[in-house]
Amino acid sequence: MNWKEIDENAKRWTRDAGEKIRASFSEELLIQTKSSPNDLVTNIDRETEQFFIEKIRQAYPNHQILGEEGFGDELEKLDGTVWIIDPIDGTMNFVHQQRNFAISVAVYQDGVGKVGLIYDVVHDELYHAMPGEGAYLNDTKLPQLPQVSVEQAIIGLNATWITENKRIDPSILAPLVKKVRGTRSYGCAAMEMAYVATGRIDAYISLRLSPWDYAAGLIIVEELGGKVTTLTGEPLTLLGQDSVFVSKPGLHDQIRKNYLVDYKEEPKN
Ligand code: IPD
Ligand code: CA
Ligand code: CA
Repeated sequence: MNWKEIDENAKRWTRDAGEKIRASFSEELLIQTKSSPNDLVTNIDRETEQFFIEKIRQAYPNHQILGEEGFGDELEKLDGTVWIIDPIDGTMNFVHQQRNFAISVAVYQDGVGKVGLIYDVVHDELYHAMPGEGAYLNDTKLPQLPQVSVEQAIIGLNATWITENKRIDPSILAPLVKKVRGTRSYGCAAMEMAYVATGRIDAYISLRLSPWDYAAGLIIVEELGGKVTTLTGEPLTLLGQDSVFVSKPGLHDQIRKNYLVDYKEEPKN
């Protein structure tokens, strides 16, 4: 398998898709809701996913595709070469703010990450990594993630998880929120993982993400020595929804040991 070529194609298609999205800003959006009134999708999400699928099918007819908008394949296993794509991560931001959204593209071989790309379309910032080859922001190599204490950390966390919700007792994360230097909530999981990679934030916690939200970020953050697991410290499945805890290495252990011991994963159905 020529991973260098796959990486180069993935980058080119991602930048091209970004250009199309930027061009769409002057056009009227078709906005629809999915599972709830807050779960948005637009014609641009769909067109972007279809753009990738067309390119991948043409170049790599044997590869499988897992895409959020469902134009790819229905996968039960991660055997073979699998592209995992979120055409627009942060659709609510895309619709309301026209910023703070990203394209997330990852390629896995038999469940092992090979290429990870997160593209901040508005800032033209492409975060990318191939395991063993370093992680980059555009052409700049990112340094390995340093240690940081809980008191010095800024954590990406949605306010949902410290108010009444159906996934976690809010009293579990409240002491962590009190202890850290600050919290941030960007509304774009892929970008929040890219921000952990660059040190703009030190950790990111979400109680429910899908594979396309974190597949690329996982490759980039792990390449820099960061840790990406569920909140109970288990590896992410890449097939169903999971809680996700992304962090600088020592901080991950500190937070798990001191703040997450009471958290139990809900049974999967
Ligand atoms: C969402 C964003 C958001 C996260 C949600 C995701 P979407 O993705 O990543 O930050 O909190 O769980 O579903 O729907 O905008 O692609
Ligand atoms: Ca998403
Ligand atoms: Ca999406």
